[in-house]
Amino acid sequence: MLFEAVSLAVLVLLIIKASQRPRNFPPGPRGVPILGYLPFLSNGEPVYRTMKKLAKTYGPVAGFYVGPNQPFISVVGPQAVKEALHNDDLNGRPSNSVILARTFGEKLGVAFTDGEFWREQRRFTMRQLREMGFGKSSIEYQTMEEIRDLIDEIKNQGKSNEDYIVDFKGIFVVSVVNILWAIVGGERFQRSDAKFKRLLEDIDLFFRVGNPVRANVPVPVFLLQMFPRLRSYFGVESDMFEPLQTFIKETVEQHERSRSVEADIPRDFIDAYLDEVKQQSVKNSSTTFTYKQLVATVQDLITGGSETTTNAIGFTLLYLIHYPQVQRKMQEELDQVCGTALPSLALRASLPYTDAVLMEVQRMNTIAPVTAPHRAMKDTQLLGYTIPKGSILSINIDSVLNDTDTWKDPHCFRPERHLNVDMTKIVKNENHIPFGVGKRMCLGEPLTRNSYFLFTSSLVKTFEFSAVPGQPLPTLEPVVGFTSAYDGFKAVAKPRSTLTQAL
Ligand code: HEM
Repeated sequence: MLFEAVSLAVLVLLIIKASQRPRNFPPGPRGVPILGYLPFLSNGEPVYRTMKKLAKTYGPVAGFYVGPNQPFISVVGPQAVKEALHNDDLNGRPSNSVILARTFGEKLGVAFTDGEFWREQRRFTMRQLREMGFGKSSIEYQTMEEIRDLIDEIKNQGKSNEDYIVDFKGIFVVSVVNILWAIVGGERFQRSDAKFKRLLEDIDLFFRVGNPVRANVPVPVFLLQMFPRLRSYFGVESDMFEPLQTFIKETVEQHERSRSVEADIPRDFIDAYLDEVKQQSVKNSSTTFTYKQLVATVQDLITGGSETTTNAIGFTLLYLIHYPQVQRKMQEELDQVCGTALPSLALRASLPYTDAVLMEVQRMNTIAPVTAPHRAMKDTQLLGYTIPKGSILSINIDSVLNDTDTWKDPHCFRPERHLNVDMTKIVKNENHIPFGVGKRMCLGEPLTRNSYFLFTSSLVKTFEFSAVPGQPLPTLEPVVGFTSAYDGFKAVAKPRSTLTQAL
């Protein structure tokens, strides 16, 4: 009898405690005892949309709990999003089962580390990537080689049937990763390489099964081991990283074997990192530069870079199929400026409409609708609310890129909105932030800026894209996980007759 009474009292106390909020915590839904708001986030709707709906009721900063003691803050709208991204106390990353499962059970890499460790590793990674050609025209030649290979692939597929129908599922990713991999690992993969294809499919799967809220629930690892079904609910499919990690480890070993002792100029990022590991191991016993950290960083670069740019290119073609008049206008500009050649970075300033189209696609279809989760490193303030240390923040980029006050008609596809009155120059709106802002801003932005432009403008110069005759337009609705992907689609890619050099 006594035992039952004590159990009941403990239960009541737990329920009371679970329903309490810290002082000045942002308003938000209570959910149910113990589980908090978690059960209400599983309705199949993409989380970034659920968060936008919450903002209508509770305002731009909404707070709730997922699980018994994990505060979760949803940040929506330009003012709150930019304030959060510029607040360095909100620059941490959570450490949870999904994240640790990616990196040998430790907090490693650049995308999901924080504090001094992250600062040092991000600084080094960015410096080295810049020196290897990231965001510079020095890799334009390699990029164009990949683009020519892609153009050949599209043409060959198109030639195999009367209507030039091409299957665009998975067609861009090899080209995109090859450019990244040339800088990171110094090699090129063949389109037909089955092992490489499998690695890329695994990466895609990770992004698709991911759920930006559930992935942050602090589930003990032993529970995930005991109940394998829970793993997919929380998006912890660690097995899918093993092939990629093995591949990176093998590449690092090859680099170690083939690096000549006399050579002082690193061939690529892996060489540069291995040199740093060696130097630091002599002079600094608590170095953050380790072999494992190298593998985790390369994994971050490949996973962060493959899926995002690929989908940006795919969505651009989809939008141009839906808006043929925009495609024609882009082609007119490309023909006028580039003549019979493919576009180049040097000509970019003379192609404002083309750039405006790419900006509009990135605005309409946010590839990363929410940032990677941020974590409050200490108690801090956001729009006047107290954000307790350890809170996880979902920062909604989509709500900025589609904000009605900023864009007036955000749901209209209108590239002209990014141009000045006489349509000769890009006018950058401060709320056009597909790569985030602040110190956590996307590390791959300089590379993407150039490669996304070269890929899409070259494809549109070379082909006329349209829907398959007799079939409905392919959907613009994204497949949402951690990021937004295009649904594999088939379309007509008819070679245009304005090119001599590339054909
Ligand atoms: C269309 C292309 C891309 C988009 C829209 C995009 C978007 C983003 C966004 C929104 C973030 C999160 C910022 C935050 O958490 O506050 C991010 C982070 C990151 N991105 Fe990208 N990205 C793209 C391409 C790339 C590429 C090509 C790479 C690889 C080279 C890359 C590597 C990373 C890394 C490593 C981070 C984590 C940075 C950190 O935590 O310090 N991304 N990206």
